[in-house]
Amino acid sequence: MTVRALVVDPSASAAVRLAEVPDPVPGPGQVLVDVSHASLNYGDLNDARSGRIPVGAVLGSDAAGVVVRAAADGTGPAVGTRVVALTAGAFAERVAIDVGALAEVPKGLEPAQAAALPVAGVAALRSLRAAGLGPDKRVLVTGASGGVGRFAVQLAAQAGAHVIASVGSAARGEGLTEAGADEVLIGLEGLHRPVDVVIDSVGGSQLVAAWNLLAPGGSVQSVGWTSGEPAVFAPYATVGPAKTLTSFVIEGEAGADLAVLTQLAAEGLLRVEIGWQGSWDHFDEAAEALRGRRVFGKAVMALGTPL
Ligand SMILES: NC(=O)c1ccc[n+]([C@@H]2O[C@H](COP(=O)([O-])OP(=O)(O)OC[C@H]3O[C@@H](n4cnc5c(N)ncnc54)[C@H](OP(=O)(O)O)[C@@H]3O)[C@@H](O)[C@H]2O)c1
Repeated sequence: MTVRALVVDPSASAAVRLAEVPDPVPGPGQVLVDVSHASLNYGDLNDARSGRIPVGAVLGSDAAGVVVRAAADGTGPAVGTRVVALTAGAFAERVAIDVGALAEVPKGLEPAQAAALPVAGVAALRSLRAAGLGPDKRVLVTGASGGVGRFAVQLAAQAGAHVIASVGSAARGEGLTEAGADEVLIGLEGLHRPVDVVIDSVGGSQLVAAWNLLAPGGSVQSVGWTSGEPAVFAPYATVGPAKTLTSFVIEGEAGADLAVLTQLAAEGLLRVEIGWQGSWDHFDEAAEALRGRRVFGKAVMALGTPL
């Protein structure tokens, strides 16, 4: 038996193609999930070309669907439960998923919205936690128009922080004030007062400028590097009162954090902005839109159209 999946293929235009792969065989602590929706992350585009995911392997990390076989060890959700997961090889019609990597989708949350949460939502939640949030903090979010950025703006605002959202153009700032940003800036133009926390998705010269704005005791979380530019620090830029630049990556199982995020979304406290939605047949279009900075928030694919 086989299922359809988006697999890495460097000869394809977006380095990905639809293919038949073997039906997954779940381990004892895994459920089988029929995936209805999956979201595309900037990291997937890098993974498809970087060699980190082998040629022929299934791409993707974010999936939502329905459990069709419970875990053999008796843990996790029952058959018929709607779930969302952060798991390797998410872009397949059927995926075997560790029970610790998923959360139940609460009533009131659509599967497309749930599918948008894992990588971007967990990165935003954990990087803010790592930086240390608080009501008196000034938080700068770069790449605020994107997946991680929009969630980070909302979560920081909910914690009572003063949130400064940095975007590439005025148009890309749409909706961020409503999401909770106190200031929306193009680049870091006009920002002169120090900030306590930076959630940085852009890297390059913006990371350097953000570092220079960081208050003593503050923290930059280096989440991504969409600019692709090197970061050049002026001599002595890193010498002075202690402040930190911390590398960030999602590690370990995400189920508990996904439960937090899905609950917030179901209660309407975390808005899931979907800027591109379509069939996985149109993966190339979604990938191009994401790379071209035309997606407001997340790109979500519906699975299940014929090859
Ligand atoms: N470390 C981790 O565990 C982890 C987890 C999730 C994501 N990430 C990384 O975080 C980054 C953001 O991910 P995402 O899913 O939020 O991506 P996204 O939805 O594509 O958003 C990225 C944002 O970065 C900005 N951007 C894109 N190209 C740029 C450029 N050349 N110069 C300046 N800004 C640029 C865009 O904002 P404007 O159009 O407004 O400029 C865009 O909205 C990626 O590098 C991703 O790989 C890492």
